[in-house]
Amino acid sequence: MDQLSDALAASLELVAERCGDPTPLVYDRLFARQPDMEALFLGDHSRQARGQMLAIALDTLTDLAAGETWAGNMIRAERVNHDQIGVPFDVFATFFTVVHETFRDAGGEAWTAEMEAAWTGVLARAAAAA
Ligand code: HEM
Repeated sequence: MDQLSDALAASLELVAERCGDPTPLVYDRLFARQPDMEALFLGDHSRQARGQMLAIALDTLTDLAAGETWAGNMIRAERVNHDQIGVPFDVFATFFTVVHETFRDAGGEAWTAEMEAAWTGVLARAAAAA
């Protein structure tokens, strides 16, 4: 694995150590920033879709960091799928930023410059893929 992938993986481990499952933190921040989007999750009583979506978004970023081509296709396909369920393109793109900020806050003083560079790098790739 290269430095970007290593630092990204280390950041995910750090967040897991610090807060276990970060899903509630991510969606609290998302809905604070995009209140209109909370209504779209009304059917998600078990909160399984929230967790599944975050897990798949993280898998996509991990593979994007590793240079896997499917990851870019996944982002493009999900962007169109989400537009059809009421998530505008510009809002769709904000999810990765919300995850980045939530994880950085959770990492606190243990969040390294390498981790920050890895997230900035992979989010630039995600933006270029969309
Ligand atoms: C602010 C941005 C986003 C919003 C508001 C949003 C909203 C939603 C909603 C409402 C659902 C359906 C939930 C349900 O079934 O009850 C969903 C599912 C899903 N989203 Fe997103 N989404 C966003 C960004 C993303 C991104 C960036 C990705 C990944 C690249 C993604 C991947 C998925 C996947 C894979 C599912 C299906 C989860 C499952 O299997 O249940 N979403 N999203």
